[in-house]
Amino acid sequence: MSRAFEITRTLPEDTTGADLRADVLGGLTAEPKVLPPKWFYDARGSELFDEITTLEAYYPTRAEREILLARAGEIAEATGARTLIELGSGSSDKTRHLLDALPDLHTYLPVDVSESALTQAAQALAEERPGLAVHALIADFTRELDLPGDPPGPRLVAFLGGTLGNLLPAERAGFLRAVRGMLAPGDALLLGTDLVKDPAVLVAAYDDEQGVTAAFDKNVLAVINRELGADFDLDAFDHVAVWDAEREWIEMRLRSREATTVKIPALDLAVDFAAGEEVRTEVSAKFRRDGIAAELAAAGFELARWWTDEGGRFALSLSTVPDAAGNGNAQTV
Ligand code: SAH
Ligand code: AVI
Repeated sequence: MSRAFEITRTLPEDTTGADLRADVLGGLTAEPKVLPPKWFYDARGSELFDEITTLEAYYPTRAEREILLARAGEIAEATGARTLIELGSGSSDKTRHLLDALPDLHTYLPVDVSESALTQAAQALAEERPGLAVHALIADFTRELDLPGDPPGPRLVAFLGGTLGNLLPAERAGFLRAVRGMLAPGDALLLGTDLVKDPAVLVAAYDDEQGVTAAFDKNVLAVINRELGADFDLDAFDHVAVWDAEREWIEMRLRSREATTVKIPALDLAVDFAAGEEVRTEVSAKFRRDGIAAELAAAGFELARWWTDEGGRFALSLSTVPDAAGNGNAQTV
């Protein structure tokens, strides 16, 4: 018998427009210019991201899948999860390995800003798994994390793919504290984090020869053109991926080939670009075990398990919420 399939939108219908206007106005009048990465993910952006995950150079998806396949049973045993909340779930593709392994799962709650990717994935999962309640939540995980209904515990929050690295350090701290606020002792956080490695490998992963990442990067300009009536010429910008060795993150940027002025009618704004001027469109931070353990501890989590793929490229960690006496629910290793 089929359990429920529901979709809840916590973003009011026009918040996306208002948020986009505020981010573009703030970001393109800043020095240097920046745009937040969440605007990549309209329907086309989500498709392009899925295509990136199939590229030889883009190893994180393969590496994380390898870990999930090897460890899903241990994750199930350690958490006994009845509710799986997945933030930035996208296609929910790797999640299937977890869903297969969690015997007591009652509710799957995928959360994403990409309505198309979320609806498609959640609907397919609900059809495939009639015993599972699937409640999709269209929401910005950096803003509000009010869960619809009162899904049963133990709760497991999954944040996969390395998406934590797309938040700046202060945003990460606030985000992890907010996630901790959704959970109680006995609940857990499953976090995928990409690891620091040879910069040549990293740059290749973010500047593939096929140009898929370049198209993904430029898609943010297509979103601004469509939503705000702007006149960005996508061919007049080059995709750039740079390793910042000090901050240990990859930066994706769009570089204007020539001096130009872009009009954005919805903001009543004209933005000047000098020849060679760049807009930072994404950071993708790479982590080390000690650093992520410290960030988790600062948010009230305790790192209990740490697994990497064979190549040591990517890590999946399981963190617990200690009870008042300071005890987590999974054995710390
Ligand atoms: N978890 C999947 C997808 C990662 S891509 C994987 O591991 O392959 C990042 C996903 O996060 C996209 O689906 C994007 O739409 C979503 N996302 C990005 N910023 C978001 C935000 N602020 N709030 C909610 N979802 C967001
Ligand atoms: C979603 N996120 C973890 C991806 C990353 O690797 O930072 C987004 C991405 N950007 C370029 N390629 C993929």
